[in-house]
Amino acid sequence: MKTNNSSIKKSIHLLKKNECVGIPTETVYGLAANAYSSKAILKVFKLKRRPRTNPLIVHYHDIKFLKNDCYLNNRFMKLYKLFCPGPITFILKKKPNSNISKFVTNNKKTLAVRFPKHRTTRLLLKNISFPLAAPSANVSTSISPVTKKDVLEEFGSKIKYVIDGGKTKVGLESTIIDVTGRPKILRVGGLDLRTINKSLKLNLNYNFKNKYKAPGQSKLHYSPGIPIILNVKKPKKFSAYILISKRRYNNKNYFYLTKNRNLNEAGQNLYKILRNIKRKKYKLIEVENIPNQGLGLTINDRLKRASYK
Ligand code: TXA
Ligand code: MG
Repeated sequence: MKTNNSSIKKSIHLLKKNECVGIPTETVYGLAANAYSSKAILKVFKLKRRPRTNPLIVHYHDIKFLKNDCYLNNRFMKLYKLFCPGPITFILKKKPNSNISKFVTNNKKTLAVRFPKHRTTRLLLKNISFPLAAPSANVSTSISPVTKKDVLEEFGSKIKYVIDGGKTKVGLESTIIDVTGRPKILRVGGLDLRTINKSLKLNLNYNFKNKYKAPGQSKLHYSPGIPIILNVKKPKKFSAYILISKRRYNNKNYFYLTKNRNLNEAGQNLYKILRNIKRKKYKLIEVENIPNQGLGLTINDRLKRASYK
């Protein structure tokens, strides 16, 4: 442990006492707890006000300890070698003798696992003997946090500690892929679907109208609690208007996702902008059309869910 020694030590101390800790990842901040401890996991559900029927993702440093909890297969290994650590979550078959708390999976026979790419969190994972279950560190259905400040805004003094890992690099939750059988995308996310398809030589797709396979992908989600209207060309005067790229107008109510239409940059900024609009107490959000390709697919998915009435 060279860097961030004290924040890691403090986190380990709290996690061993079955407390929750806010952790940075490359996607969004997580609300982490010992995945082997039911006492700790129940605190996560309570703090997040999350229905117990919605299972959690478990975070590992690498596959060494994963073997105790899941059956690994070739499809998984291929993607793991290509993209991990990184913004992808795998659904695998859980081993019956695994120590994962039954509350993590809601008694399901599968487990969602992920290998986050953030220096401090990887160091933390390397120095504990249990994996970390971590949903996004926001109250259920609200906007995912991309900074420590956002996490504190969600939970206030109810959270014991949050590691400061700066602003998250990807800014959108991980892509979820079920690899228990023929691969299926359960949630579009921070890893571009085209990249996955290219490496697996498949043509997996995803459609907002699909049946939602991930139990937590409810239609209303990622919501700033303000009505959102999509594909707006002429915004109303009083609304917050989100645009894909910087223009000449300097209107106070215009929020630009990027300088130059780079969709990765748009992903990094989306939740920050939504939170900012919420803080400014706008009553309506309007969004111009966002290209439905690359991470644009994920951005549109999140905006559609956030706008669901
Ligand atoms: O980027 C991320 O994935 C972030 C960071 C913190 O790692 N985590 C995150 O967790 O987005 P959460 O809890 O907000 O979303 C996890 C999603 C939920 O929709 C849940 O239903 C689904 O994963 N999920 C968890 N376990 C599953 C399982 N066994 N089968 C299918 N879906 C599962
Ligand atoms: Mg979430």
